[in-house]
Amino acid sequence: MCGIVGYIGDNSASPILIDGLKKLEYRGYDSAGIAVYGDDGVKICKTKGRIADLEGKLENEGKLEGCVGIGHTRWATHGAPDDINAHPHKGGNGRITLVHNGIIENYIELKIMLEQKGYVFVSQTDTEVLAHLFDFFYDGDSLKAMSKVMKMVRGSYATAVLIEDKPDEIIAARKDSPLIVGIGDNENFLASDIPAVLKYTRDCYLLDDNQIALLKKDSIKLYDIDLNEVHKDVYHVTWDVEAAEKGGYDHFMKKEIAEQPKTVRDTLSPRIKDGKVVIDELSLTDEQIKNIGTVHIVACGSAWHVGMAARYVIEKLAKTPCEVDLASEFRYRNPIVRPNDICIVISQSGETADTLAALREAKSKGARTISIVNVVASTIARESDDVIYTMAGPEIAVATTKAFSAQLNVAYLLAIRFAKAKGLIGENYEKTLCEEMLELPELIEKLLEMDDDLKALAKKYVNSEHVFFIGRGLDYAISLEGSLKLKEISYIHSEAYAAGELKHGTISLIEPGTPVFAVATQSDLLEKTLGNIKEVKARGAKVIALVGEKHSSVDEFADDVIRVPEISNILMPSLTVIPLQIFAYYMALGRGCDVDKPRNLAKSVTVE
Ligand code: AGP
Repeated sequence: MCGIVGYIGDNSASPILIDGLKKLEYRGYDSAGIAVYGDDGVKICKTKGRIADLEGKLENEGKLEGCVGIGHTRWATHGAPDDINAHPHKGGNGRITLVHNGIIENYIELKIMLEQKGYVFVSQTDTEVLAHLFDFFYDGDSLKAMSKVMKMVRGSYATAVLIEDKPDEIIAARKDSPLIVGIGDNENFLASDIPAVLKYTRDCYLLDDNQIALLKKDSIKLYDIDLNEVHKDVYHVTWDVEAAEKGGYDHFMKKEIAEQPKTVRDTLSPRIKDGKVVIDELSLTDEQIKNIGTVHIVACGSAWHVGMAARYVIEKLAKTPCEVDLASEFRYRNPIVRPNDICIVISQSGETADTLAALREAKSKGARTISIVNVVASTIARESDDVIYTMAGPEIAVATTKAFSAQLNVAYLLAIRFAKAKGLIGENYEKTLCEEMLELPELIEKLLEMDDDLKALAKKYVNSEHVFFIGRGLDYAISLEGSLKLKEISYIHSEAYAAGELKHGTISLIEPGTPVFAVATQSDLLEKTLGNIKEVKARGAKVIALVGEKHSSVDEFADDVIRVPEISNILMPSLTVIPLQIFAYYMALGRGCDVDKPRNLAKSVTVE
């Protein structure tokens, strides 16, 4: 999964492309390159490594002059990250220059066809096939060529092309990978995501699947795959550049952790009115809610952990059966989805390939689809029947934090809405839950003040080889998230277990000194979890207990205790996740890891 940019105007393209790529580096950062149309045609500079390495190479080899260009930052899928496989790629005898985000699934058969026609390939990428195929169809009409390419390839793409004999245009297209067009004054922009153009414009076109954009410095024309002109509404971006910058924090992750009170407030307050949950974006009637058969929740990674928590809350309040699936499994297991079933899809980016495919699978089986998404107008958002946006703003750090919290709160809102529609909770209880939820931002603020304590705690455990997390019910769902946060940014081996499961095998891994994070905030399960704490303690584990502030029964069995404010059990995950995020952050920092861009990961996984 990569990031692409494009610029056409009167200004020097190179610095604008580089700047835009920096804003997209969270999407992939193993190699990068730009191509600029100058006085003597298209010139390319590309390299293995980060944008900074590309800047260094441009410094040494001389800037690329010209006012039209395209650029790319890569997350390798086909071909190792190196100078050859870096984008842009040339097509034909070099008259085509192309960047691409996505995967061409039928690239091998296309490559064979093109080689039989004399095309010579220099890289291992699927993208070079796209460049040569464009050249193959190009007879002077770039639109026709792009349309033919789109009809020939299978897979996902956001692609932008420079053509040697078309110095005054960039042509681009998308399918399954995001692409926006930034509207300027006598200049125009292309990018995989809005932060790349926000410094220059707030007005964008959000391309849909199978759409083509033809950019000139003073015009933008949009077409469908059959070259019928398309008219789109301008999407005006309301959030600011600053939001996309670090705001004085050392890392985006730390800034985004600190933004959670605002994120939760922004996500809840539009949907809680006078002690009632009102989700305007949800088009289901009370009658339809009453008749829901099964709620299928599908997602990946941390979003799946939200799904695990959502099941406990929806089944507890609304008594509607829930199935929670990893999207990558759901899409291929031919799930049993009945007409009255609904499918809740959770995704920060709204572009995760497995989750998108799971959404389409559920739709194809007749389920009504509701997505909980952070990126406005992303593909999952646009393809689901209803979309409930989490108001987290741009989330840059690969490890999700604020979007996770926002998703969790939308899940609570849905559970309460369902329970109320089914007459399973009354106005009073709904009001109580709403009041408690509106207190969450303030309580999270309080938890953020534990920063120094958690920093000290991380210092104590920073050299751990293994860390286990245990919990029951909602605490198990949050243990999964705590463990993933630690794994993905500190590279420490970590597992999360349903506390009652330990004695069925895993407890054999516990030896003297093994850190075990015991999340025990569910008052109705505390006794049971305490039993499991004693089990690991007896094997010499170092127990870090995360409990409600009124509970001290674990103290004698714990080496360290983190206390969080107490509210209704079903809302506790919104509090317990905060110290786990901060602990993971300081563990990663203490081990010198790249907190915002962990190795081998990317913010949005648009390949399966
Ligand atoms: C979480 O910190 C990771 N970035 C990852 O597990 C993520 O949750 C997963 O890839 C799903 O992404 P999405 O929410 O954008 O669909």
